[in-house]
Amino acid sequence: MTPTDARSSVAEDQAREYRHALGRFPTGVAFVAARAPDGEAAGLLINSFTSVSLSPPMVLWCLGLKASSRPVFARATSFAVSILSQDQKSLLNDLSRPLEQRLNGVPIRDGWGGAPVIENAAAVFECSVATVTLAGDHEVYLGHVEHFSRGDNAPLAYLAGQYGRVQIAA
Ligand SMILES: Cc1cc2nc3c(=O)[nH]c(=O)nc-3n(C[C@H](O)[C@H](O)[C@H](O)COP(=O)(O)O)c2cc1C
Repeated sequence: MTPTDARSSVAEDQAREYRHALGRFPTGVAFVAARAPDGEAAGLLINSFTSVSLSPPMVLWCLGLKASSRPVFARATSFAVSILSQDQKSLLNDLSRPLEQRLNGVPIRDGWGGAPVIENAAAVFECSVATVTLAGDHEVYLGHVEHFSRGDNAPLAYLAGQYGRVQIAA
């Protein structure tokens, strides 16, 4: 192993350890989608969704600079965040397909500004884009919540690369 190899494997070990540390934070799973002015729609699975402000209601999520859906988000003025429910676990495979087929057969409707919304999600936040800020290898999308809805179905949980259900401690 050359000194350069050794350095890069230390960096890789650290990156893996960093990802594992981040994986200690349980989240939900959402599908965020947008529609460009020419009608092209795109979206991706995310777990970076978070609430920012209650009044006015604002949320954020982060988009990787290499994501294939980025050109559509760059042209859109709105996005919709569909929080997936436990009974939508079977949609995860579909929503991970290559962009061109990702929404094929997935039950969606047009939300605020035409952004695709997944039917029967645990909750939906339809937003206008407030700001887009470059942060390292991601962009932070901050949005004003223009419309929201909530279902009765339990949300799907995500922890350390695995999907499951939330069990409330007694
Ligand atoms: C549970 C989960 C959470 C994810 N969270 C994010 C996220 O917050 N931001 C992001 O840009 N990509 C996230 N990804 C990766 C994207 O869904 C997608 O795979 C990646 O952007 C590559 O997309 P592409 O094939 O369209 O280029 C997540 C993937 C999974 C499975």
